[in-house]
Amino acid sequence: MNLRGVVLAGGTGSRLRPLTKVTNKHLLPVGQKPMIYYPIDKLIGVGIEEILIVTGVEHMGDVVGLLGSGREFGCRFTYKVQDEAGGIAQALGLAENFANQQPLAVILGDNIFQASLKVHAQRFLSQGTGARLLLKKVSDPHRFGVAEIRDGKVLGIEEKPKCPKSDHAIIGVYFYDAGVFDIIRTLKPSGRGELEITDVNNAYIRKGQLACDVLDGWWTDAGTFDSLVRASDLVLREPPQ
Ligand code: DAU
Repeated sequence: MNLRGVVLAGGTGSRLRPLTKVTNKHLLPVGQKPMIYYPIDKLIGVGIEEILIVTGVEHMGDVVGLLGSGREFGCRFTYKVQDEAGGIAQALGLAENFANQQPLAVILGDNIFQASLKVHAQRFLSQGTGARLLLKKVSDPHRFGVAEIRDGKVLGIEEKPKCPKSDHAIIGVYFYDAGVFDIIRTLKPSGRGELEITDVNNAYIRKGQLACDVLDGWWTDAGTFDSLVRASDLVLREPPQ
């Protein structure tokens, strides 16, 4: 299939110290597997065969040692180093050569969820151009990118707002056409010094090229102590499809 996959597994994992003092967050156990296996399995479940893994320089050796060529997973891995944690959009910018003008399915390495991405990937491919995001209703929207929604359309997204305009979080699964790299080139660092994926998504909204779906089943990130425990509990109780 034309769609290529990207797993973003850089960052500092600072909210999980000291668990992440000598290892990468995405290598920590969730249920019976390392965290990064779950986003990889989701991409493979869509039929994607080419997957780029982006991670920091400190733990790239361990990530390659764990995942290898992809033979055991039935896919091919390419690896790219993000020199410092300059944000999700910066990490995605490293995927330009890998993408080779093809559309991308991007997953944050700490997003764990139940449902298959197949139907969402098919809808994205039939939309032809632009971006497609997935939303999930949450009880703590201030922790996430939050969508302002009217008549089923996303009007704008705010990153970790103090007063969220809805309880619909943007989860860490994004489908983009090849135009995403031109958008990333225009970004300026945010207040926290990162290139924000929310700014990329707002650029697609301004172009009128952003579609979205609500994800079925359970979803969680695994980047805090509470959510890491929740993720393990969920995968053991109701295994991902
Ligand atoms: O989980 C969904 C949320 O993820 C979205 O709702 C937010 O809009 C989005 O900004 C993001 O928020 P987080 O605060 O959870 O992002 P975090 O910094 O924890 O990074 C999430 C993953 O992205 C991390 O597991 C690895 C990857 N990442 C992150 C950074 C900052 C990179 O690969 N490189 C980076 O520089």
